[in-house]
Amino acid sequence: MTRTQNPSVDGRPAPPRQPDDREAFPSGNATWWRQAAVYQVYPRSFADADGDGLGDLPGVTSRVGYLAELGIDAVWLSPFYPSQLADGGYDVADYRDVDPKLGTLDDFDDMVRALHAHDIRVIVDIVPNHTSDQHAWFRETLDSEPGSPARDRYIFRSGRGEAGAEPPTDWVSTFGGSAWEQVADGQWYLHNFAVEQPDLNWSNPEVRADFVRTLRFWSDRGVDGFRIDVAHMLTKDMTEPLLSRAELDALPLDGQHPLIDRDDVHEVYAEWRAVFNAYDPPRTAVAEAWVDAARVPLYARAESLGQAFNFELLEADFDAEQFRRIVSDNLALAELSGSSSTWVLSNHDVVRHATRYGLPHPPRADSGRPALKHGNEWLLSGGVTPALDRAGGLRRARAATLFLLGLPGSAYLYQGEELGLHEVADIADEHRQDPTFFRSPGIDKGRDGCRVPIPWSSTGTSFGFGEGGAHLPQPAWFASSAVDVEERLPHSTLTLYRRALNLRSELQTDEQLEWMDTGRNEVLRFARPNGWQVVTNFGTEPFELDRADVVLASDDAPLGIVPGETTVWLAPA
Ligand code: NOJ
Repeated sequence: MTRTQNPSVDGRPAPPRQPDDREAFPSGNATWWRQAAVYQVYPRSFADADGDGLGDLPGVTSRVGYLAELGIDAVWLSPFYPSQLADGGYDVADYRDVDPKLGTLDDFDDMVRALHAHDIRVIVDIVPNHTSDQHAWFRETLDSEPGSPARDRYIFRSGRGEAGAEPPTDWVSTFGGSAWEQVADGQWYLHNFAVEQPDLNWSNPEVRADFVRTLRFWSDRGVDGFRIDVAHMLTKDMTEPLLSRAELDALPLDGQHPLIDRDDVHEVYAEWRAVFNAYDPPRTAVAEAWVDAARVPLYARAESLGQAFNFELLEADFDAEQFRRIVSDNLALAELSGSSSTWVLSNHDVVRHATRYGLPHPPRADSGRPALKHGNEWLLSGGVTPALDRAGGLRRARAATLFLLGLPGSAYLYQGEELGLHEVADIADEHRQDPTFFRSPGIDKGRDGCRVPIPWSSTGTSFGFGEGGAHLPQPAWFASSAVDVEERLPHSTLTLYRRALNLRSELQTDEQLEWMDTGRNEVLRFARPNGWQVVTNFGTEPFELDRADVVLASDDAPLGIVPGETTVWLAPA
């Protein structure tokens, strides 16, 4: 059934769709998401059906067979809405349409139908903190007076200094540079991200009502869930006088901070939750909230969004102690919220994990963070470095992934990680697209290196991505990681992911784990109540197992041995 229009009789417009004619997921149940393996599709870089060099929705539909064979439960699509791509689509010009460069609403419906036919749910990205400056609302602000209702949908202020020529505050945008931009009549608008991404005013009831409409629009089209972009920044206290950056930085992040992780954002999500729960099964939501771990449960509660990303594994080194602490802490947090935990190693914002694990541990003293940032020394040197251990990085990535897939909770995977792809570091400056590169300027290489189009075949135009080349240049080494190569190889990363994901439903029958003593700090072993066990050797010395019945190993494992930097799964005895 095409869902772009309601059926109509005798030429009269059909009544609005009623809850009972919604296309409920065929074998749906209300808790499908708790242990789901969710595969993130970055649509512009996945598959290009029309050969214009940009991936598109028919491209996703053409690869549904691949996704089904992979064994995932859901697809999360990064934004596919009309956009000038100032921030890879996270600058949305119309929340209830498809970017004509990527297809049509009919193409969207076809894609959802094809995914659902293979029991794969669909999660779409909602970007509520900011619109694109091409959005009809923002364009209206430019023809409207200061203080007008149109400007009140955004955050406009007068500048400081003579004739207001200075921005209202010294706040800095996440992508670098001032967080304020001046318009022709002298007022300034707030943009916490790129200049083309003006922040919305969430105190404005019209803004709130419009997002509810958007959530219903996609839910009515059969979407199963939502990923909420920068979920912790929507509501802001903009009472004058505005504080300086230093004053803001000195404030605790306790729910009352003027800009970040405010308690009152949950009033918005409570309203959304009521919308989600009106569907059967209820629509799900996962918060992208970079907040203190102790505050994550606020987003993950059933009364709020219901689930939240936990980025701690993605920020960790390949290290047993760090992994164990993170898993224990996050399972405890999940118990607090009543949600399930989420696990992530890669996404479209960070250096691919095969590459992170192939770099020497970064100095933690200054930033406290590993090589997540694309401006780290290795990427600054243009990717030409003896420091990257490609094989070692991939080996550790495979071990970490198999560990992650054995944990209770949802696993979020990023397209291309199933091929063991490394970051593409040596993209020439003239090909770069990411605003972080332009606004840093040039110091942070940006996130393009993990967004290079997927190699489907070892030969052919753009490695099978599409007939018209790829919007970001693909390196020659993609050939050996192409899908058509890896699917023939019993030891490839793709084969490993397929086997693990297809076995995973047997593991995920309960949501607990118990750590087992291994006698070695660098070896973690846990058991699920159903009898499955996972053993990861984070060290380099082989670990002797007390059993020989390994079902799956991240790399070759001799009988009864877990080699260094390897994970094995053991079935119930
Ligand atoms: C988080 C998204 O993951 C990232 O790609 C984007 O640039 C920012 N939010 C702004 O929307």
